[in-house]
Amino acid sequence: MLAKIEQLLQEIDGLTAHSAEELEALRIKYLSKKGAINELMADFRSVPAEQKKEVGMKLNELKNKAQERIAALKEAFESQDNGTDGLDLTRTAYPVELGTRHPLSIVRNEIINIFSRLGFTIADGPEVEDDWHVFSSMNFPEDHPARDMQDTFFIESHPDILLRTHTSSVQSRVMEVSQPPIRVICPGRVYRNEAISYRAHCFFHQVEGLYIDKNVSFTDLKQVLLQFAQEMFGPETKIRLRPSYFPFTEPSAEMDISCDICGGKGCPFCKYTGWVEILGCGMVDPAVLEANGIDSKVYTGYAFGMGVERITNLKYKVKDLRMFSENDTRFLKEFEAAN
Ligand code: DAH
Repeated sequence: MLAKIEQLLQEIDGLTAHSAEELEALRIKYLSKKGAINELMADFRSVPAEQKKEVGMKLNELKNKAQERIAALKEAFESQDNGTDGLDLTRTAYPVELGTRHPLSIVRNEIINIFSRLGFTIADGPEVEDDWHVFSSMNFPEDHPARDMQDTFFIESHPDILLRTHTSSVQSRVMEVSQPPIRVICPGRVYRNEAISYRAHCFFHQVEGLYIDKNVSFTDLKQVLLQFAQEMFGPETKIRLRPSYFPFTEPSAEMDISCDICGGKGCPFCKYTGWVEILGCGMVDPAVLEANGIDSKVYTGYAFGMGVERITNLKYKVKDLRMFSENDTRFLKEFEAAN
């Protein structure tokens, strides 16, 4: 018995393991219920009484040593990375940075969500448009300055084809294929021939709104815009409508919201007026309804158009418009939390 114990003690000194499976096999071989050490424990009964003390001590030594050795092997094995054991192969080799949604997309989605809840669906139209949809069908006079080369990008070989200068063109696209009730918003990119600076760019984004039905009134327009402003900028937000002019609406108005930077008290952002302009709107001019195949004696409608950059600036205080198209990830990462 003592010889057997000595032999096992030596064996245990020399144990090695290269994988979790090998280590488990060793544990079973020596330390499990049916393992070598337990077998010796069972034989202990038959040890003559005068040897019991010596054999008992040796057996205990063996058991402790086996436990220590296997624990040590486990530790050594877990702290080294040989092979694939203990490695998480699903992890990438390099830190991967998650992308974030562009601030203009965040705000556009928010605008879409608000109007979707009010029953508006989304309509789309081409960015390369013809004169009819951008200008003529929208009641622009022949000599309107917006038709000028200075404002509009024309496709050189086709004087009738141009980059749309506003999303109002989608109004015409929708009306020519559908009859009222029409309730759509049209988000999209528009182009203007402007010198690029911190406050102007040659392309930007708008969301157009159009609602046509029987008995639509200016009150409906005002209520929807108030609802929008308060959902977008907070329930305390006030709106104000100022008379204005657009060829496609009559009457026309521009809408201001109370400046949410100074709370209406006056600051450099609102030029000390307490108000900032956010969109243009009005009742669809009957001439526009007629030009697009809708009976203006039966139907009335309202329309509005807002700049997504403008609203993003108001919400997130971005001072330079160029930041939106530079793809500087340091800037884009600032919007991580808003995603
Ligand atoms: N199209 C105008 C622009 O680009 C914005 C606008 C104003 C759209 C009034 C409308 C509207 O639908 O009713 O500046």
